[in-house]
Amino acid sequence: AARPRVLSGIQPTADSFHLGNYLGAVRNWVAMQETHDTFYCVVDLHAITAGHDPEVLRQRTRVSAAQLLAAGLDPDRCTLFVQSQVPEHSQLAWVLSCITGFGEASRMTQFKDKSAKQGADRSSVGLFTYPILQAADILLYQADAVPVGEDQRQHLELTRDLAQRFNTRFGKAFTVPAPYIVKETAKITDLQDPTAKMSKSASSPSGIIELLDDPARSAKKIRSAVTDTGREIVFDAEHKPGIANLLTIYAALSGRTIDDLVAAYDGRGYGDLKKDLAEVVVEFVRPIQERTRAYLDDPAQLDKMLAIGADKAGAVASATLRTTYERVGF
Ligand code: ADP
Ligand code: NA
Repeated sequence: AARPRVLSGIQPTADSFHLGNYLGAVRNWVAMQETHDTFYCVVDLHAITAGHDPEVLRQRTRVSAAQLLAAGLDPDRCTLFVQSQVPEHSQLAWVLSCITGFGEASRMTQFKDKSAKQGADRSSVGLFTYPILQAADILLYQADAVPVGEDQRQHLELTRDLAQRFNTRFGKAFTVPAPYIVKETAKITDLQDPTAKMSKSASSPSGIIELLDDPARSAKKIRSAVTDTGREIVFDAEHKPGIANLLTIYAALSGRTIDDLVAAYDGRGYGDLKKDLAEVVVEFVRPIQERTRAYLDDPAQLDKMLAIGADKAGAVASATLRTTYERVGF
């Protein structure tokens, strides 16, 4: 049987992915190459909704693609592309926006959160319609499944509603995608505020580990991670979130289980755990950095890989758009 198709995207909105992005998303993308028909995109169209610098965006898009390849995406086993290179995303988004209710779009909590930060009047219409573009990203590829974290569930629900609505109103054009919940997905928290998620919008840079940062600096951040005043190394996300986070990262990067780590650190202190984890992190980022640099050092080859990806994606996207346009009456 054909493998289920999956679509996922990541924004090129930082100079480096952080450990949360890797352990919460990218690592699963790599694994899904074995089990799914995978389409992955660097969603640069989504990266211009809140103001940006063109040269910085161009650079971040390339660095994002290079990091994904360095982390293990294999262009022979997945379709990796840059969203803006497949114009059908914008074209389908327009059609979908015309079957989305204004009230329906207004209920998206992520827009409310983000626009509240910027001031609602200053937010772009693009930020408002972002979930509709996201629906187009997914529906263009007839994706069966979309890996989603909690924060994206509402957008996937909208995508499913739009697919069903279109299919009912105009005739079937879209697969209705199901959420793909990755069981062992690690939720990584901020090293300085272990109750908040590790995020590029963190208040302090010492709370996040960036894959492309100087490894010595990352090691230092791990060693100065905020923990509690206790001494015992146990996994207790509620009462000892700092230690739980370090154990989660350690287990994910080393392939050891949390139980195994807890047993290994029995009778030892937080300092030992941090020192060892710092080394694990350094050893983990080193090869990723080397491979990322190698991709960036050969821009012609990187561009060629992305162009091939955009061709493969475009073949699927244009077939879907053709059907959609035909159904709509174009
Ligand atoms: P950020 O929160 O830094 O802005 P994004 O929202 O761009 O990150 O997230 C990109 C991907 O990385 C998403 O799939 C998201 O679920 C995942 N991700 C981001 N931060 C974390 C985290 N702290 N733990 C686990 N996964 C995360
Ligand atoms: Na985010």
